[in-house]
Amino acid sequence: MRLNPAQITCDTTRVTVVGSGNVGSALAQRLVEKNIANVVLLDIVEGRPQGLALDLIQARGIEGHDRQIIGTNDYADTAGSQVIVITAGLPRKPGMSRDDLMLTNGKIVLDVANRAIAHSPDAIFIVVTNPLDQMTHLTWRATGLPVHQVMGMAGVLDSARFQAFIAMELGVSTSDIHATVLGSHGDLMVPLPRYTTVNGIPITELMDAAAIERLVQRTRRGGAEIVDLMKTASAFYAPASSTCAMVECILYNQPRILPVTTYLQGEYGLKDMFAGVPCRLSCRGIDSVFELSLTDAELNALHESAHASQNGIDRLEQLLADYQLT
Ligand code: LAC
Repeated sequence: MRLNPAQITCDTTRVTVVGSGNVGSALAQRLVEKNIANVVLLDIVEGRPQGLALDLIQARGIEGHDRQIIGTNDYADTAGSQVIVITAGLPRKPGMSRDDLMLTNGKIVLDVANRAIAHSPDAIFIVVTNPLDQMTHLTWRATGLPVHQVMGMAGVLDSARFQAFIAMELGVSTSDIHATVLGSHGDLMVPLPRYTTVNGIPITELMDAAAIERLVQRTRRGGAEIVDLMKTASAFYAPASSTCAMVECILYNQPRILPVTTYLQGEYGLKDMFAGVPCRLSCRGIDSVFELSLTDAELNALHESAHASQNGIDRLEQLLADYQLT
């Protein structure tokens, strides 16, 4: 007996990427070309995800992989995904803060989360859409999933930016640098020089305070600097790489400790809110949250950052209530 190739669906690693804009399409490319997962790329725009999928399929021979990639407008095609990444929503324009996008993107994210969970009730959700902390909160509420299955991608990206700037400053290999950035994904994020090292050497031993402060500020504006340069788009290569690393940890049960936006239940003195802190990831999502010992100044900065992202959270409650009525 011969199987029809269409019946051969050993699709054990299926990741849905919702939103086929710059971040979504770059993420889909990274996932298939690094041979990490089969991808369903979904968008409401007809033709775009299908076209991108076909383009990626046509590159398969050259890139040397046989990953499946489906472009679709239909959530039925996402059924059984292990991981759902939400990138759908509008990006920032110059002069806009991430918070300016709250209501517009809130409606989009709510709709996406509700539709996606209906087809993949056990999925782990990674939220990328801004404003990140609020959109992660909304996704958690909309899906009704346990908190360890809903997380936001920000700390990996913010730490990667800090890492890149330190490497450029010191003229050393980026891969020797381990950077830690906590807090919400906004201007008040908290890069932690004390927990940032070059192969174990704290950067406080290698740079003076003024240089460190300059790189901390550049990290906080890491996304805005790119928006200012590109004018009509925001960053996508590094956000896609960061999300890809998180997906890989989850799918392959790599117990890496990464800064992830998670629901805090008293850790760091923060309760019932999402913020970025070091977490161990696994196939179950967020396995555990690590509490670093922080100085008073670091802890205050983390509180300020986390509380700032609570602004407008009540507007999300209204969105949820309105959605349930429709
Ligand atoms: C950035 C967006 C992804 O920081 O928030 O570039």
